[in-house]
Amino acid sequence: KRVAILISGSGSNMVRLVESMTGNHPARPVLVASNDPSATGLQKAAGLGIATAAVDHRRFPHDRAGFEAELLKPLLDARPDILCLAGFMRVLTPEFVAKFTGRMLNIHPSLLPQYPGLDTHARAIAAGDSEAGATVHEVTPELDSGPILGQVRVPILPGDTEQTLAAKVLEQEHRLYPAVLRRFAEGDRRLLML
Ligand code: GRF
Repeated sequence: KRVAILISGSGSNMVRLVESMTGNHPARPVLVASNDPSATGLQKAAGLGIATAAVDHRRFPHDRAGFEAELLKPLLDARPDILCLAGFMRVLTPEFVAKFTGRMLNIHPSLLPQYPGLDTHARAIAAGDSEAGATVHEVTPELDSGPILGQVRVPILPGDTEQTLAAKVLEQEHRLYPAVLRRFAEGDRRLLML
């Protein structure tokens, strides 16, 4: 299986996904693309020998479709079987998502369906939750709402801040995403609870 990964920043999830696709793994990374040409994850991908592409979304103010049309050029050239969003911070149009129905994954730093959207850790702490976590789900046109493929839970301790919690969750994301991607690439859609 050919896997393309979309990032917006550091790409720490992308690095773990790329590093997991070796040996008898059924998938291989074919492209890492970003909406930000300065995303440090692009240098990391290049260092790992993966082809990269970048389309600056700021070139397309008020033109989401124009940005996506540009992004689709290198993306479709890579002929991906699976598209992984990993720290990708742009909302994609239903038309874009429709091109990858059933083969597009995202990782979200909350225990969906709780806390779709942004600032998930601050919201969990403010709500007095005893745990947080991360979710890998199939991407559908509605934001952060597709079928859940895997989750991992992290305790929220007294004194945890948004930063300390984010760091703990991110560490668990790095375990969850590769595990879900491997199953997904093997055609296994069973829910994975780490
Ligand atoms: C992190 O906040 C992570 O929780 C979310 O995307 C952000 C950056 O991740 N999935 P990455 O280091 O770019 O993978």
